[in-house]
Amino acid sequence: MTFHVLTLFPEVFEAGIHSVIKRGIQDGKIAINVVNIRDFAINCRGQTDGYPYGGGAGMIMMARPIYDAYKSLGAASGRVVYLSPQGRVFDQTTAAELSAEGELVLLCGHYEGVDQRIIDEIVTDEISLGNFVLTGGEIAAMAVIDAVGRLVPGVIKPDSLMDESFSAGLLEYPQFTRPRTFMGRDVPEVLLSGHHGEVEKWRREKALEATRSKRPDLLEGKGHG
Ligand SMILES: C[S@@+](CC[C@H](N)C(=O)[O-])C[C@H]1O[C@@H](n2cnc3c(N)ncnc32)[C@H](O)[C@@H]1O
Repeated sequence: MTFHVLTLFPEVFEAGIHSVIKRGIQDGKIAINVVNIRDFAINCRGQTDGYPYGGGAGMIMMARPIYDAYKSLGAASGRVVYLSPQGRVFDQTTAAELSAEGELVLLCGHYEGVDQRIIDEIVTDEISLGNFVLTGGEIAAMAVIDAVGRLVPGVIKPDSLMDESFSAGLLEYPQFTRPRTFMGRDVPEVLLSGHHGEVEKWRREKALEATRSKRPDLLEGKGHG
């Protein structure tokens, strides 16, 4: 799967790719193509933004440089996601849905946002990381790449995805590793028993317990998962 990122701050992506996603790239399962919108500036001063019509604070990213950056992708098409506080809130269901796409364009806004006409012209989806305002779409795009990229077949072993939080409408059960005792707290006996059936039963109960206490909305079918 290829992520095409349209941004004014490509360096964010150089610093942010590591671990599972980096391995996915090395294995040829994922590609990240970062396009610097500044390369499509309207003049030799590198201008890509302007004052808002009607007045008001801050600058707006111009439609033309974004459009030209998008067009430079050539035949690449498919869904174009604008990372925006006004979008639908990103969740695991959306991540799974997007992981089935062969290509995804991620448009990162900055300053006061982008000219509405570029949204109307090229954007198919608006996605928000949550009900708060970030300085730019780059961190949100990184989150989308990470959450979607790890679901691309072959990036992670299917086993690792099976009991994960949200995979069956539940949060994951508690996990433990060595040592068996830490600060006087023991690993639950059942996990040392070697009894597969009992371990499964315990995990299911604990997953339900965690969901009930931390995210009861998931059990009521109202949660974003
Ligand atoms: C400072 S914000 C602009 C906010 C805009 N003026 C508004 O009030 O809706 C700049 C950019 O950050 C990104 N951004 C901000 N909050 C976000 C969020 N919650 N999720 C995803 N992207 C966000 C968007 O790309 C946005 O264009």
